Amino acid sequence: MSGIQGKVVAITGASSGIGEATATHLAEQGAHLVLGARREDRLNAVVDRITAAGGSAAGTVVDVTRRADLGRLTDTALARFGRLDVLVSNAGTMAISPFDELRQDDWDAMVATHVTGLLNGIGAALPVFRRQRSGQFVNVASTAAYVVKSPQAVYAATKTAVKVLTEGLRQESGPHLRVTLVSPGFTDTEGVGKGASPEAARALARQRDDIAMPPSAVASAIGYAIGQPDGVDISEIVVRPTVQA
Ligand SMILES: NC(=O)c1ccc[n+]([C@@H]2O[C@H](COP(=O)([O-])OP(=O)(O)OC[C@H]3O[C@@H](n4cnc5c(N)ncnc54)[C@H](OP(=O)(O)O)[C@@H]3O)[C@@H](O)[C@H]2O)c1
Repeated sequence: MSGIQGKVVAITGASSGIGEATATHLAEQGAHLVLGARREDRLNAVVDRITAAGGSAAGTVVDVTRRADLGRLTDTALARFGRLDVLVSNAGTMAISPFDELRQDDWDAMVATHVTGLLNGIGAALPVFRRQRSGQFVNVASTAAYVVKSPQAVYAATKTAVKVLTEGLRQESGPHLRVTLVSPGFTDTEGVGKGASPEAARALARQRDDIAMPPSAVASAIGYAIGQPDGVDISEIVVRPTVQA
């Protein structure tokens, strides 16, 4: 199978931002979407928008830190559409702060969402992909996995872990699976600075307003990777605004 048309794509963190834009973009290309996030009202609104526009989508409440929730996401794909072609692990939190503020709950949330959450997705989808002898992981990291900027160390460390896990998974994936890392730079979403310490949030929001690219730019990069023929794996994409240093 090549292209996007008819593929069954599950996306975590699909209730806003990059996840929502990716769902919309792939639905327009004829994919069947299975969308997960915690905010049920926002998730349902995305599903409703896609279906009202003639697309195909289902939603299920997913907290990626809970292993069973990822199982429910892949089960929903199998029950509704009979297969799963792609899992986009996109859920994330950018609650950035300096170490001295000791926001240990935020540190834990970033580790749980980006590292445990990604592993939960791999645990749920890998057996399905092995059985089908096809499937693709698309893991969303960040340019923070390439350049550490204070006070983003915890965020950058967890996104570096996403990059490392993705490369290891790619090496073990064998001839039938595809594994793609997509690392966005500043993207105009509600998540930038959300939950961050006030000073960091202000700085991030300022930068976002000055230089961010639209989430559709990341969505089309993800679509490009998914649209390649079966035997072609786009392993890594870094997509950033031209003005981002
Ligand atoms: N915006 C940027 O500049 C930028 C740059 C580089 C990388 N990224 C990455 O891109 C991804 C998407 O972020 P965004 O910018 O689109 O921000 P966003 O609009 O805040 O989206 C984050 C999504 O993740 C979901 N989420 C958070 N924690 C979750 C959990 N435990 N379980 C399930 N879903 C969860 C949120 O939905 P609920 O709250 O409804 O669960 C939301 O749908 C993140 O991984 C982020 O780190 C963003």
